[in-house]
Amino acid sequence: MGIGRATAARFLREGARVVATDIDENRLAALGREKAGGILLTVAGDICREEVVRRIVEACAGHVDALANVAGIMNGFLPAAESMTIPETGCWPST
Ligand SMILES: NC(=O)c1ccc[n+]([C@@H]2O[C@H](COP(=O)([O-])OP(=O)(O)OC[C@H]3O[C@@H](n4cnc5c(N)ncnc54)[C@H](O)[C@@H]3O)[C@@H](O)[C@H]2O)c1
Repeated sequence: MGIGRATAARFLREGARVVATDIDENRLAALGREKAGGILLTVAGDICREEVVRRIVEACAGHVDALANVAGIMNGFLPAAESMTIPETGCWPST
């Protein structure tokens, strides 16, 4: 189980309202099967895309107590500076 899924599952067991994001819809569905007690909202999509981030912010409805920023973006284990260039926008692309 990944860090984000384990974190979300723990908060859900504690009764929290959780907004979970993953590029893989099957992984979000798996989280939904273990939501026991809490409220789960899911946003499927690539966290590197601004439109997806906007949907996440909307789902949070103006209230965030904790953030787990743990998407598994590794690019073959290369150090960040070697695996990508930083565009003028200041946002790193995923590839
Ligand atoms: N597991 C560890 O011991 C450990 C230790 C140190 C650092 N990390 C880092 O933490 C991060 C998460 O690790 P993990 O073990 O939970 O990985 P994981 O592969 O179990 O989970 C990562 C999740 O991120 C999702 N994802 C990938 N790209 C995405 C994107 N662009 N947008 C949205 N979701 C995306 C994947 O679908 C997957 O469900 C990785 O970057 C890893 O290098 C992990």
